[in-house]
Amino acid sequence: MDYARRLFARIRALQTIQWISNADRTFAIHADQDFVFGPTELAGLKIFFTGPGVNPPTPLTIASGGAGNCIACHAPPAFTDFAFHNTIEDVLEFYRAFGEKARAREVRNPAPELRGIVLKPHDLPPLAAFLRALNEDYE
Ligand code: HEC
Repeated sequence: MDYARRLFARIRALQTIQWISNADRTFAIHADQDFVFGPTELAGLKIFFTGPGVNPPTPLTIASGGAGNCIACHAPPAFTDFAFHNTIEDVLEFYRAFGEKARAREVRNPAPELRGIVLKPHDLPPLAAFLRALNEDYE
């Protein structure tokens, strides 16, 4: 968590950001794969790293969203096992709805981190873009 906090502080402090698009690809391997990291992916990264501040979240956080709280369980630098068994959109919608249900006490014994997931539908596309930017196909 300490590493994650330091990493996020560095990312937030960046003054100039060099975006990466497919046109920049100069990889010897994986040259046929998309590799894009732009403003949308960065917005998703921020949602991934943002927690609710306090848990249970305040009404203000619940109204505004933007707190993925993903970092509470998925630690950098790997974040995930890179295997998406469902579509990313399905997984994110599951987390969004589960966070809501966990706060409403409709789930028995949820992990407290799940109550801290406060996502609005508009948070999901940038989060999906960020996760796709992490994905690397080794085939
Ligand atoms: C309470 C802990 C917890 C939180 C919070 C959490 N996850 Fe997960 N997540 C897991 C576990 C456990 C797995 C299954 C093991 C694995 O694949 O690492 C998983 C799996 C996943 C997968 C792979 C799903 C699949 O179909 O294979 C994705 C993608 C993912 N999480 C994204 C997220 C995102 C995005 C967030 C924030 C909105 C988040 N997680 C928050 C614990 C958590």
